[in-house]
Amino acid sequence: MALWGGRFTQEADARFKSFNDSLVFDYRMAKEDIEGSIGWAKAIASVNIISAEELEKLLKALNELLAEVEKDPHSIAHAGYEDIHSYVEARLIEKVGDLGKKLHTGRSRNDQVATDLKLWCRAQVAILLKSITGLEKTLVDFADINFDTVIPGYTHLQRAQPVTFGHWAMAYVEMFDRDYRRLSNCLELLNTCPLGSAALAGTAYPIDREALAKDLGFSRATRNSLDSVSDRDHVLELLSCSSISMVHLARMAEDIIFYNSGESGFIELSDRVTSGSSLMPQKKNPDACELIRGKSGRVIGSLMGMLTTLKGLPLAYNKDMQEDKEGLFDALDTWHDCLDMACLVFEDIKVNKERTLAAAKGGYSNATELADYLVSKGIPFREAHHIVGEAVVYAIKQGKPLEDLTVEEFRQFNDRISDDVYPILTIESILKKRCAKGGVSLEQIRSAVDFMKNELSAR
Ligand code: ARG
Repeated sequence: MALWGGRFTQEADARFKSFNDSLVFDYRMAKEDIEGSIGWAKAIASVNIISAEELEKLLKALNELLAEVEKDPHSIAHAGYEDIHSYVEARLIEKVGDLGKKLHTGRSRNDQVATDLKLWCRAQVAILLKSITGLEKTLVDFADINFDTVIPGYTHLQRAQPVTFGHWAMAYVEMFDRDYRRLSNCLELLNTCPLGSAALAGTAYPIDREALAKDLGFSRATRNSLDSVSDRDHVLELLSCSSISMVHLARMAEDIIFYNSGESGFIELSDRVTSGSSLMPQKKNPDACELIRGKSGRVIGSLMGMLTTLKGLPLAYNKDMQEDKEGLFDALDTWHDCLDMACLVFEDIKVNKERTLAAAKGGYSNATELADYLVSKGIPFREAHHIVGEAVVYAIKQGKPLEDLTVEEFRQFNDRISDDVYPILTIESILKKRCAKGGVSLEQIRSAVDFMKNELSAR
């Protein structure tokens, strides 16, 4: 039974009904729809639309229903109602008869769905904040163990200067930490209550909307009824937060895939997060990471979809807005799964320290040091850069790293080079020199790890 039969003489076409119905996906807001209804029941009792006794009956029935839907939320999906609001109202009427029909007084599905979705978002944000924290902790632990494991750092995917695995992991901690704060900001902004805005012009009953907002755990009531029922900024913001974070996850996954490749051999992913090939028996594919990288596409797609859906909509509510849920649900689920999977990937990663060190030493990644050395001998940097370029070409021809050239060989390029060049070409010296805040010196990495450990323990 639909909520709106009176004006209609013909039945809805079955094909239209299934096209129009949203219960198959909005059943996920069952709990929130009931919570919102509990708040509304109290609000209409406060202006004497229902009596204290009726309120008590409604609350009892709604709480019963809450316990029922929590047992098996999925079973609601195919109960055949138009949407979750119709479902909850129908079930309430089953329980309390005609009294159930009073609950929708002064309320519209427009402010109802806006409220439900915000409540749902709030609950999801709490879960996601925990997941992000979990991944940050995992990465900080990895950084702690590998704070001095030397790996090559890249620009243009060319070996550039040595860094450490700890420094690499802490770079991602910074990204996920911004994701955490971005999501917290989102929560703060969305936490206003649209209920009492009715269809578009505001409820016709003198309800204390601020009290209602507080009762539902919002920070305040929304200020404009037209905006309240048509605002989906929070959907866009959450999709945007999840897209940005998925980009971080995808980049991290890509680094891991590369480090795990036969070409690098820096790490070995565990059998628990890799899979084999049906044809090539030797293969062990980094599927978990590839899927994390790949799933960024659908999350970003949901953001683009929702921006496009909303862009031309006139005020206030339009049915187009029903399209907000599937993309959002899918994006947040995907984000959550990927955060979780990323933690699992780190659980038993094996790091091959010999390979990472050898790679960091190769590729002439100490060439900048030689240039700086020449600068210390009074040669202008631009000139030093050129001299070192020539020395590198020579060393490549000899098949040697810079530190294996003799002083005589070095002197072909500049006569100010002497024995004291060798210590500055070592990895230890390269790392040590980068001791300004945020640099790769071991003290800096240690303090970054300690700082984040402290931050995370306070959450
Ligand atoms: N299922 C609808 C949605 O998700 C609920 C609101 C329906 N409102 C209406 N006036 N038809 O947006």
